[in-house]
Amino acid sequence: MKTLFFLFFYLVFTTNASPIAKTPIGSTKKLCLYSHWTVYIYNVMIDPVTVHIKSGDDDLGDHTLQFNDTENWSFCENIWTTTLFYAYFNCKNTKPVAFNVFDHVTSVNYGSRSFIYSERRLVWLVRDDGFYVGKNLTPFPDEMTKLYDWSY
Ligand SMILES: *[C@@H]1O[C@H](CO)[C@@H](O)[C@H](O)[C@H]1NC(C)=O
Ligand SMILES: *[C@@H]1O[C@H](CO)[C@@H](O)[C@H](O)[C@H]1NC(C)=O
Repeated sequence: MKTLFFLFFYLVFTTNASPIAKTPIGSTKKLCLYSHWTVYIYNVMIDPVTVHIKSGDDDLGDHTLQFNDTENWSFCENIWTTTLFYAYFNCKNTKPVAFNVFDHVTSVNYGSRSFIYSERRLVWLVRDDGFYVGKNLTPFPDEMTKLYDWSY
């Protein structure tokens, strides 16, 4: 019985925890047991930035963001709040930088608040002087917090 119970939860939660939304954002609401997140990355570096996002289960591949380009992805945070995405950033004249672009602590501290079934947001801004995070793309630097530096 215990095994069955566990299996049930395993299936429910792992299915729901699949990080990549299969539908375009905004078209269909994803129903999550815990938070539904969309993470945005905006590049305002003049040189293109290559971003490679990964989690334990998913590899979102390489994306090259030109100046003023953006990418986003959506997922359900699992109820254990262990959902984590990390990213490698590369740019001409910089050394590669890697850090968690989504984890529970970062999302609680800088992401938008939780309302029942509403989508939550975490926004990263990639600038020459480093990586900023906030809950919205506000006129810089309002409500953005710098968390990481490039290494030149
Ligand atoms: C960046 O993109 C936004 C819309 O995505 C646009 O309104 C803005 O003018 C662009 N900025 C520059 C400097 O190109
Ligand atoms: C989010 O990404 C999708 C493609 O994955 C794109 O169609 C959509 O315009 C993006 N939204 C924003 C606000 O950048």
